[in-house]
Amino acid sequence: MNTDSLFRPFSLKSLNIKNRIVMAPMTRSFSPDGIPTPEVAVYYRKRAEGEVGLILSEGTVIDRPASSNDKNIPHFYGEQALSGWKNVIDQVHGAGGKMGPQIWHMGVMENHHSGWVPSSHFEGPSGFNKPGLLNGKAMTETDIADTIAAYGRAAAEAKRLGFDCVEIHGAHGYLIDQFFWTGTNDRKDVFGGKTLPERSRFAIEVIKEVRKQVGDDFAVIIRLSQWKPQEYTHKLAVSPAEMEAWLNPLAEAGVDIFHCSQRRFWEPEFEGSDLNFAGWAKKITGKATITVGSVGLSGEFLAAFAGESSEPSSLEELLRRMDRGDFDLVAVGRPLLADPFWSQKIREDRTAELKGFTKAALSELVV
Ligand SMILES: Cc1cc2nc3c(=O)[nH]c(=O)nc-3n(C[C@H](O)[C@H](O)[C@H](O)COP(=O)(O)O)c2cc1C
Repeated sequence: MNTDSLFRPFSLKSLNIKNRIVMAPMTRSFSPDGIPTPEVAVYYRKRAEGEVGLILSEGTVIDRPASSNDKNIPHFYGEQALSGWKNVIDQVHGAGGKMGPQIWHMGVMENHHSGWVPSSHFEGPSGFNKPGLLNGKAMTETDIADTIAAYGRAAAEAKRLGFDCVEIHGAHGYLIDQFFWTGTNDRKDVFGGKTLPERSRFAIEVIKEVRKQVGDDFAVIIRLSQWKPQEYTHKLAVSPAEMEAWLNPLAEAGVDIFHCSQRRFWEPEFEGSDLNFAGWAKKITGKATITVGSVGLSGEFLAAFAGESSEPSSLEELLRRMDRGDFDLVAVGRPLLADPFWSQKIREDRTAELKGFTKAALSELVV
């Protein structure tokens, strides 16, 4: 198969990458007390050695007392954690790779199975993790202002440490998405409202603050999803017009790249067109987009958590869409978690050496 279009360089502001392959952000929980270890740095360096164009880090949490529900998820604040991240980016650059951290606040979570809880209550727009599940407090205006500032500080640190871009995690039912979703946002103030553009106010303020902190020339990505782990089939925007009203203000606030999370990239976003989420986001905003979701694998990732194995699958449909100009970049999750050299094997057409994905790969940092 001719995969040349995946191996063209891409440049946007601070980001200059050698190909179109992005390592999708994947939480690994191998950072005790929030501090990325030397092993974490080696794990990322290996993906740079394996010719991944852009590595996005696992979600790494901002400086709020309850931004995480797991004590082994990395922080993106505090001297020790940031020095762990400095080692990560230096190692990745040393191997010729490029990287951005995915900055994250989980919002209102269910309690972690380990029994660990943060030092204060979970916080979110209205205290809900999903409709009917109250497990935190509704943020005050001061909480909101402090949280926006904490996103900005994390982005500033990303730039200071030498990362090539920053990604804001606005997807998958976490804090920013909890503001977007009526199921978790019933606020009566300016951060709530009946329409998606009204409920986008928090995201817009986060983006503006991040942009203010990093300046005009640093690439800012936002990850969004229509689906929620709390409700797989949910769509925040049910028509192209609603998507336009949602995304254009985010673009105006300072987003350079929309990272459009789907579980299966080939699924059309709306009836009457085969364009996927990244395809629509690019068409609507004119911004660069990243697609993701079961690229090169037979099964999707949430089923993988439940133990379903996936086999390698063809990239033909992906390439058809890419060659048509639907999106600019392609994020790959599980194949890169399980095999640091996936990207190189694709370029060299070593398909017989591709591995599938089994849940066992989650139990270690495969290098
Ligand atoms: C172990 C694991 C952890 C993940 N953690 C995150 C995360 O921290 N942030 C995020 O935005 N998505 C996360 N995801 C979703 C992936 O980024 C990606 O969207 C998903 O796995 C689909 O891509 P794939 O089919 O290529 O694996 C995670 C997925 C996996 C498998």
